[in-house]
Amino acid sequence: FNYMDNIIIAIDGYAATGKSTLAKRLANHLDYIYVDTGAMYRAVTLYALQNDWLDTKISSQNKAIQQLDKVKIRFQLVNKKQHTFLNDKDVEAIIRTPEVSDRVSEVAAIPEVRNVLVSQQRAMGIKKRIVMDGRDIGTVVFPNAECKFFLTATPEVRAKRRLLELDLAGIDTTFNEVLENVKKRDKLDSSRSVAPLVKAADALLIDVSELTIKNAFNALLKVVSSHLLDDD
Ligand code: CDP
Repeated sequence: FNYMDNIIIAIDGYAATGKSTLAKRLANHLDYIYVDTGAMYRAVTLYALQNDWLDTKISSQNKAIQQLDKVKIRFQLVNKKQHTFLNDKDVEAIIRTPEVSDRVSEVAAIPEVRNVLVSQQRAMGIKKRIVMDGRDIGTVVFPNAECKFFLTATPEVRAKRRLLELDLAGIDTTFNEVLENVKKRDKLDSSRSVAPLVKAADALLIDVSELTIKNAFNALLKVVSSHLLDDD
């Protein structure tokens, strides 16, 4: 057998399908790097909201072109948990609020924003040993990733699970607000012209509607293990 221990694992899929929970667990299990690309788009959106890129006369695309070099995003462990930092400020909690969720798909559709973030994401995967989750990881960021998943579930299941997470984080919202947001983002993310959300031909489709996190994790791990122990 040829034991490959340096691979790239790409996890894409619809909003709130548990991608980041599963990606984090896989990375932990394999001692790989975990990258939450959604957090990067959320951080740019927070910057856009704070600096009036949106709802101004000048298009948000122009604002992005002018100011994107001022947006510095990095990940850092805080109490053993990976947090997102925007210009040296811990923004982990605020990027998950409904205000950011409401505008993120709009910002993520700006080609200049994607160019900058995609090149940062590729740089993070240069040594492989990475689990990255998002919308375009298997299609655009790492089209040659050894292992690709595409997660889906019914909107109601996703909204219910996300509401629980937000409740635990102390973020005040309702089931209907979350459901509408999830549906809206799926639609915008799937229909944009640059790097739309679409399953890569070689990605494994997994419907997690009926799966617990533990069962979903085991299903993913089984596939990952077969890639790691590749007898090619
Ligand atoms: O965790 P959740 O499914 O709510 O979403 P996320 O991964 O935090 O991503 C938030 C938004 O960022 C998505 O709805 C997309 O608009 C955008 N995104 C993207 O365009 N490309 C990625 N690779 C990751 C996220």
